[in-house]
Amino acid sequence: MYQMTNKYMHFIANWKMFGGLNSLNSLNKVLKFFKTFKKNKFTKIVYCPPNTLIQAMSKKLANSQIKVGAQNCHAADNYGAFTGSVNSFMLKNVGAQYVIIGHSENREIGETDKIINLKIKSALKCGLKIIFCIGETLQERKKKITKKVLNKQISLGLSRIKDNKNVLIAYEPIWSIGTGMIPNPKELFEVINFIKKKNKNYKVIYGGSVSPKNINQLKLIDNIDGYLIGGASQDPNKFIDIIKKSYI
Ligand code: PGA
Repeated sequence: MYQMTNKYMHFIANWKMFGGLNSLNSLNKVLKFFKTFKKNKFTKIVYCPPNTLIQAMSKKLANSQIKVGAQNCHAADNYGAFTGSVNSFMLKNVGAQYVIIGHSENREIGETDKIINLKIKSALKCGLKIIFCIGETLQERKKKITKKVLNKQISLGLSRIKDNKNVLIAYEPIWSIGTGMIPNPKELFEVINFIKKKNKNYKVIYGGSVSPKNINQLKLIDNIDGYLIGGASQDPNKFIDIIKKSYI
């Protein structure tokens, strides 16, 4: 039996650079599951495939509650001479309703807090919802400066932005992404609490190696508003399992 709590839980699937048109077939299982899922009114599922699949996926999910998002966008509001880039308006135009911004895999290749801030502003302007990623490195964690790092990422990334309805903060410790490691529950609770206290009324989700194996542990941390799921989201069975097990 699912506990009848009215808390909204977000399940954001980040497919990263994986998937072709045939990968869309894997959504059939999730669609079927979600139709009859008892907690579907309180569950928000967003699939963030590579840009090449956004349009086809949006069409496939058009009559469902499942939304589509992109994994990044350019900061410019208008068309421009930016070879290889796509801005938020173009993503919205093909069906995206969300966009992940500030993922550590992009920060690592030069995306600065300033650029992230401009991207968020541009995406909000065109009506996309934001999944804003923050997180510390292992070194920063060892130095015990996690909170300082997160504070800086948030204050610069969300500078002059007060839209707590359309921005979801995703706390992803970099050392936990794709490694199978997750923070210990007490530590995670504390960090999420810290983020929420400093940024009133923002929803905060957790990302980093979320899987059917550790979800029973993660779900006990009751200040988390959902999960950003990478690897496990490509397998519909694992993704469904995570959603089901998230409710006590
Ligand atoms: P992971 O990725 O679940 O594979 O660790 C999460 C992410 O990078 O968003």
